[in-house]
Amino acid sequence: MGTTAPHIICGGLIALDLELSVSSYPVAGAKHKAQASRLVGGGGALNAAAAIARLGGQVTLYGAIGDDDLAPVMRARIQALGVPLDQVHGVAGAVTPHSAVLIEADGDRTIINARDDQLAANLPPLPHPFGYDGALVDTRFPQITTTLLAAARAAGKPAVIDAEAPVRLVQDALCHASHIAFSVQGLTDYTGRADADALAQVARHFNVWACVTRGPDPVLCHDGKAAYAIPVPVVVAQNTNGAGDTWHGAFTLALAAGQDEMGAVRAANSAAARHVAGQTDSLAPLGA
Ligand SMILES: Nc1ncnc2c1ncn2[C@@H]1O[C@H](COP(=O)(O)OP(=O)(O)OP(=O)(O)O)[C@@H](O)[C@H]1O
Ligand SMILES: [Mg+2]
Repeated sequence: MGTTAPHIICGGLIALDLELSVSSYPVAGAKHKAQASRLVGGGGALNAAAAIARLGGQVTLYGAIGDDDLAPVMRARIQALGVPLDQVHGVAGAVTPHSAVLIEADGDRTIINARDDQLAANLPPLPHPFGYDGALVDTRFPQITTTLLAAARAAGKPAVIDAEAPVRLVQDALCHASHIAFSVQGLTDYTGRADADALAQVARHFNVWACVTRGPDPVLCHDGKAAYAIPVPVVVAQNTNGAGDTWHGAFTLALAAGQDEMGAVRAANSAAARHVAGQTDSLAPLGA
């Protein structure tokens, strides 16, 4: 990346993840001992912002946390990930979003997230004009999804949505995206299935580039006219928590740096594979 690295704004969920490594999925009603635990920065927007910072991009994280006991820990984790705090807004009386994340031996993750859906309702507006090289939003706070995508699109910059379920809550935002990147869960939620036909339908309907990431399986893409698939590097998965978010951050950064979609998907696959294989040093251990 050159001297002026692209500046991406990531809007959406900022959360604290308590990751518990377990040898197998818990048995209902039983007690279990974790093999390891970590308290880490999480949530789609923060994970993506951290990936962008790690990849040498400039990043602004736009979202809301609470003013509770978790808030100072959350802020410290964000800073430790190299992500600036200036557009992370504390909301009086609100609880900072947090998640319990079970990591199984094969790296698979199961997440339970606690958040107040109204947390981002009163965020201060972003300065005009849009001063970034691209925008990435998740679906967690519909109030900011449309605003960010529309602002980026009006400025002629990549406007990427990480289309996770429930996608219908941000239905009105989709037409503002330049790139719609689904997870399997997101495309299934939106169309009833997660295959190439469903993806083609969405890409043609919105006349945009769309894709669906599918864990270790090739990423299915459609540019509004034709479909193609891009394979994912084979790695031994250690932890898939945040893989999709890392993917979306790297994808948006690569687009903003001028790569075409194929190049950006390859860059994103590579960054996400390294994340899944545990080849990043950005996750602070519990108590750090
Ligand atoms: N086991 C894996 N091996 C290699 N790459 C992986 C693996 N799992 C995920 N990835 C990479 O991460 C990308 C996104 O993964 P996935 O589709 O599972 O995200 P997701 O369902 O949105 O999950 P989340 O957002 O919670 O991380 C994949 O396209 C791939 O590039
Ligand atoms: Mg995802």
